[in-house]
Amino acid sequence: MPAVVIVGAQWGDEGKGKATDLISDRIDYVVKFNGGNNAGHTVVIGEEKYALHLLPSGILTAGVTPVISNGVVIDPEVLMEELDGLTARGIDVSRLVVSSHAHIITGYHRTLDRVTERFLGKRQIGTTGRGIGPTYADKINRVGIRVQDLFDEGILRQKVEGALEAKNHLLVKIYNRRAIGADEIVDELLSYADRLRPMVQDTGLLLHRALEEGKTVLCEGGQATMLDVDHGTYPFVTSSNATSGGASTGTGIAPWRLDKIIGIVKAYTTRVGAGPFPTELEDEFGEFLRNNGHEFGTTTGRPRRTGWYDAPIARYSARINGVTDFVLTKLDVLTGLEKIPVCVAYDVDGQRVEDIPWSQSDFHHATPIYEYFPGWSEDITGVRRFEDLPQNAQDYVIALEGMSGSRISAIGVGPGRDAIVTRHALLD
Ligand code: IMP
Repeated sequence: MPAVVIVGAQWGDEGKGKATDLISDRIDYVVKFNGGNNAGHTVVIGEEKYALHLLPSGILTAGVTPVISNGVVIDPEVLMEELDGLTARGIDVSRLVVSSHAHIITGYHRTLDRVTERFLGKRQIGTTGRGIGPTYADKINRVGIRVQDLFDEGILRQKVEGALEAKNHLLVKIYNRRAIGADEIVDELLSYADRLRPMVQDTGLLLHRALEEGKTVLCEGGQATMLDVDHGTYPFVTSSNATSGGASTGTGIAPWRLDKIIGIVKAYTTRVGAGPFPTELEDEFGEFLRNNGHEFGTTTGRPRRTGWYDAPIARYSARINGVTDFVLTKLDVLTGLEKIPVCVAYDVDGQRVEDIPWSQSDFHHATPIYEYFPGWSEDITGVRRFEDLPQNAQDYVIALEGMSGSRISAIGVGPGRDAIVTRHALLD
């Protein structure tokens, strides 16, 4: 079995953690390939609820090797906190492997994230404030700090001093902040080195060998397609490639090995932070989705923006990622609605447009063209077979499948780990 990729098909928080968890008993390695602790997976196992930010959700499954690969940005303080938190709850975290090439989020990245957002005023991105963007910016600018630098004090000091030179000018002269001393950063980073060292490997090589041995590798995307820095609603995006292509560059696994691409799509849409969102609701239906779906950020606690299902976005995601199977999540949240609108195309200045417009300005003022589907009122959380769903719920799923460009293989019907209806096996 080759490598499998799971990606969010909308603006994040589609329930990837649950989908990952669902197949993780067939998986040998679970790899986080992009983003950092801006992510938030909530995984419910029995009575226990785990909120993971940086660690791959495979950490919860015995026998799986969780991997943080080169495409990730790591805040070492958060990593240690998350490991300690899970250890305290009896989870064995000793299997975690971390890439020597992954970049490190430092105190100055977090500071810069927050001050630049404040400086942007009305043009704010609405970032999570975790230092993600500034860390990726340093990576691209070739002034980043990598995991391996923590094991060579001389190099670390040189790199931190180099990076801070320009940043302190910016902080003091532009943002009116205090300068950050290299020593405080270096001392803090060095304090993690001993604990980090045994986890560090060439993860590209590790995963290559695993695949050669016939092991199954699951690459778990953080954020989602519409937040991808290349393919999302730029500049209202995160700073990494959250699409399936990022699973290759972010791990070192060759593209041809990634042949199963699972897109996670919610039965409606949510978004955190600023940026265009054509089906957004600011009425009681928006509240209904937010409250019924518990749409509050796992990482920031922010209320999420909510709206109806957007089929052009699902189609776009199917295309950009090469989605082989969709997992449709949170269908139960729609229970009780008399009719359910689905955006089937957009109206852009009086023209019907089937695809996402290439101009961001057009997308900003695209208004949804809806088709309406009859709802259902039966509780579906206990349903496990597609035929047992109310007819209207089945019809809704089949209609979405027809519009979304790929088959819907599994359907989430409740928050529990087993609250899922499978139509086609996700793995052969
Ligand atoms: P950043 O990733 O913190 O730089 O934030 C950039 C944008 O991505 C903001 O709109 C965030 O709200 C959004 N974002 C980042 N991570 C997530 C996520 O895991 N789920 C949903 N939105 C996210």
